[in-house]
Amino acid sequence: MSPSTSAVSLTRFLIEAEREGQIQPDLRLLIEVVARACKSISIAVGKGALGGVLGDAGTPGEASINVQGEAQKKLDVLSNEILLEANAWGGHLAALASEEMDHAVMIPQDYPRGRYLLLFDPLDGSSNIDVNISVGTIFSVLACPQDIDSPCDEHFLQPGTAQVAAGYCTYGPSTMLVLTVGHGTHAFTLDREVGGFVLTTRGMRIPEDTKEFAVNMSNQRHWEPAMQSYVGDLLAGKEGPRGKDFNMRWVASMVADVHRILTRGGIFSYPLDAKCADKGGKLRLMYEANPMSMLVEQAGGAASTGRQRMLEVRPTHLHQRVPVFLGSRNEVEMAVRYHLERD
Ligand code: AHG
Ligand code: MN
Ligand code: MN
Ligand code: MN
Repeated sequence: MSPSTSAVSLTRFLIEAEREGQIQPDLRLLIEVVARACKSISIAVGKGALGGVLGDAGTPGEASINVQGEAQKKLDVLSNEILLEANAWGGHLAALASEEMDHAVMIPQDYPRGRYLLLFDPLDGSSNIDVNISVGTIFSVLACPQDIDSPCDEHFLQPGTAQVAAGYCTYGPSTMLVLTVGHGTHAFTLDREVGGFVLTTRGMRIPEDTKEFAVNMSNQRHWEPAMQSYVGDLLAGKEGPRGKDFNMRWVASMVADVHRILTRGGIFSYPLDAKCADKGGKLRLMYEANPMSMLVEQAGGAASTGRQRMLEVRPTHLHQRVPVFLGSRNEVEMAVRYHLERD
């Protein structure tokens, strides 16, 4: 039977990657478990008000607060549970960690266990869910250090360069899975009739230059001087030192903003500001910045804290926050120069 040359399923793509020695069979199976969980989350998100899953978790007057200090949405909690349940019997993990859980959770001894550590932001952009704007799931895969019987937070504290896979699923007009296993960044679109992800872009490439930036401008007065100068020069347009007019987009769902940048270029930034400087930034290193940075670098872009390559940051704790600049390589390097020249 000649293999169909039209639709390449996620399964076929992963088997081809395995045959080329890019991934091990257990990593292929882990990615498929995560993809199936994302399909379940997509269905729950898609039901909206009809699914009884909008609004805040917890009871009236008593919000459910996560380790980040955020009031959880019902879908934050549900998405987290979907990923936990899918991986409990998946058989490929030693432990997992989530934005929504204080500490890493070890796969119990009597469950099938494997050699990977999975980190995820089960629902990214959850402040948008009640107003029907795209949200997503972000995940990162690390190898569990050898012969660790009871993995804990410390075993997750590996730099982004140690990731063996990273990806996100964006629940937008279409549901798309964007994935890297270290050999390019590839996009799959969910075929709802078949119930499977189909390869729609092999080898996403971010244009090196851009005229589009994504930042929450309401924080401008709280930024460091370097960020003030960098954005001030952007806003000066072609009359200013940048010599070109820029456009702005800010969805407030990192997954949606990063997907746009992977698709047509741009720079995304959540810099340090006076409100979050004491925490090191707003976005989380282990399950937002690192997986997104691997995807962006694999698509020819760049990702930085503003002063250091993101993937080389040495983590010190599981829910560590960092300033983020990522996207079109030349633009990120320009932003970094503004910071380093003013230090
Ligand atoms: P999460 O919903 O997982 O907590 O992440 C939200 C993050 C990120 O998705 C987005 O880029 C950023 O928060 C938006 O921050 P502001 O609401 O301050 O713009
Ligand atoms: Mn959150
Ligand atoms: Mn998030
Ligand atoms: Mn989240």
